[in-house]
Order: sequence, then structure tokens, then C-alpha cells
Amino acid sequence: MAVSIKSPAEIEKMRLAGRLTAEVLDYIGPYIRPGITTNEIDRLCHEYMTETQRTIPAPLNYAPPGYKPFPKSVCTSVNHVVCHGVPGDRKLRTGDVINVDVTVIADDYHGDSSRMYYVGEPPIQARRLCEVTYECMWLGIRAVRPGGTLGDIGHAIQTHAEHAGFSVVREFCGHGIGRRFHEEPQILHYGRPHSGMRLEPGMIFTIEPMINAGRPDVRQLADGWTVVTKDHSLSAQWEHTVLVTAAGYEVLTVSAGTPPAPDSTTASER
Ligand code: MF3
Ligand code: CO
Ligand code: CO
Repeated sequence: MAVSIKSPAEIEKMRLAGRLTAEVLDYIGPYIRPGITTNEIDRLCHEYMTETQRTIPAPLNYAPPGYKPFPKSVCTSVNHVVCHGVPGDRKLRTGDVINVDVTVIADDYHGDSSRMYYVGEPPIQARRLCEVTYECMWLGIRAVRPGGTLGDIGHAIQTHAEHAGFSVVREFCGHGIGRRFHEEPQILHYGRPHSGMRLEPGMIFTIEPMINAGRPDVRQLADGWTVVTKDHSLSAQWEHTVLVTAAGYEVLTVSAGTPPAPDSTTASER
């Protein structure tokens, strides 16, 4: 299957799915405090999606080839969990950092976004990792323009992460998205400028860098989903769904509570 170019009508549906996705992340923010379990976060998000929004939580029973069905409605990845954390009875503790990754289906189209949340006041190194990862995502987004390449996106992310002394996870990447959760192309979070596929208006994909404080290597747990850093170092991730426009890009996963884009993220700030 080639990369699809979305029609104006499809783009309108993707804007709706994107906003609803971001609104789940807004909703859950105030609940993320010491003592809540990741199962409770999952239940709150599930009820908000299915009862308030009347959207469908895409992760629930999602089973790509080689995976068993994902048992929950959101992914919750705490501290050294890189991605695909399965909600459970673990209570959050002050100092934890957690990624909540939400994908909703609204009117047959998907929105996909994740944010990092602080539990109490995490150590300065943990906050720094979350901030640099946020800047990495935005540097990737700002590389999106017609005529630019996928390699430009990966290069911008990798350069910033590595200058900060962190490493980029290679095993998981961003993805095209639309009627299906995961479509072509793959969006690698590392790469070389001017390499790879050229971007065209109407493409929609996620940018979702996973950045580790230590080594880049990851390991999958026996539950078949949870991915952790091999060296148990902290890992952070942020994700937006992005449209390529004639002028550059439009972020689709936006809501009233979406954190602002960084002013600028230049070499001098590294
Ligand atoms: N939301 C994740 C992504 O960004 C995918 C999670 S798959 C699931 O691509 F089944 F774990 F939900
Ligand atoms: Co995604
Ligand atoms: Co996601």
C-alpha cells in the first residue's frame, strides 16, 4: 500500500479525531498524582472516551501481526518503560514520570497523541529528559514541509537528542494514520538530511520520538507488549498527529490544554 494523500473531507475528520484525542489527554492530567494506579488512569480514559465523547479507544484489543490483543484502552509507560506500557495495579509514586498514549477512533478516523506527566516533582534529570524529548518532537514537526524528506525529520530529532547526551530508540517509529491506526510511511526518529521519501501536502502521520537517558537498546517484557530500556535508564516520549500542508504543517492533535510549542529550539539552547 502506498502512502495515502487525504482528501479535504478526510482531513476534516482527522481534525475532529485529533482534537478528541487531545481532549482525553487534557481530561486525565489532573488525576495523575501519587497513589493513582495505571488501571485507574485506563478506566477514567476509557469511560471518558466511550461515555462522554462516544469515541472508540483504538488500543483495546488491537492486535497487529505477531502481537496478542492489547488488553486496555490506553498505554501507560512509567519511568524506564519506553512505550506500550500495559495499565495494571502499580500505584504512581512522587518522582515518577509517565507517558499516557491515547488513540481514539471518531467517525472512522484515528487521532494518536501522547504526553509526559510529572507525578509530584521528579528529579531534575527526569524533567530534563522530558523537556528535551518535547523539543525533539517539535524539531521533527518543524521539519515537516512539502518537498522536505522523512530523513529531515529524523535528523532534526536525533541531532537534538544526542547533543543533550541522550539516545534515540530505533525499534519503534511514527506512522501514517487515517482510517487505519498504523499506515505507511514509517517515520524514523533518526536519519540523514535530504534522505528518504519526499513529503507532499495531504500526508498525515505521527511524530513520536522515544528518547532514553542511557543506552538506546530496548527489551520487550513477557506480557508481549511492555517495552523497557535494557539498562533500566529513564525513557520519555511525546506524540502528535501532523498534516503536511502547502505552507508546512498543521498539528491535528490539539485542544485547549495542549502544551504550547517551544519558542525556538536552536543549537545555542542545547
Ligand atoms: N499509540 C501507539 C502509537 O503511537 C500504539 C499503541 S498500540 C497498542 O503508535 F495496542 F498498544 F495500543
Ligand atoms: Co502513534
Ligand atoms: Co500513540
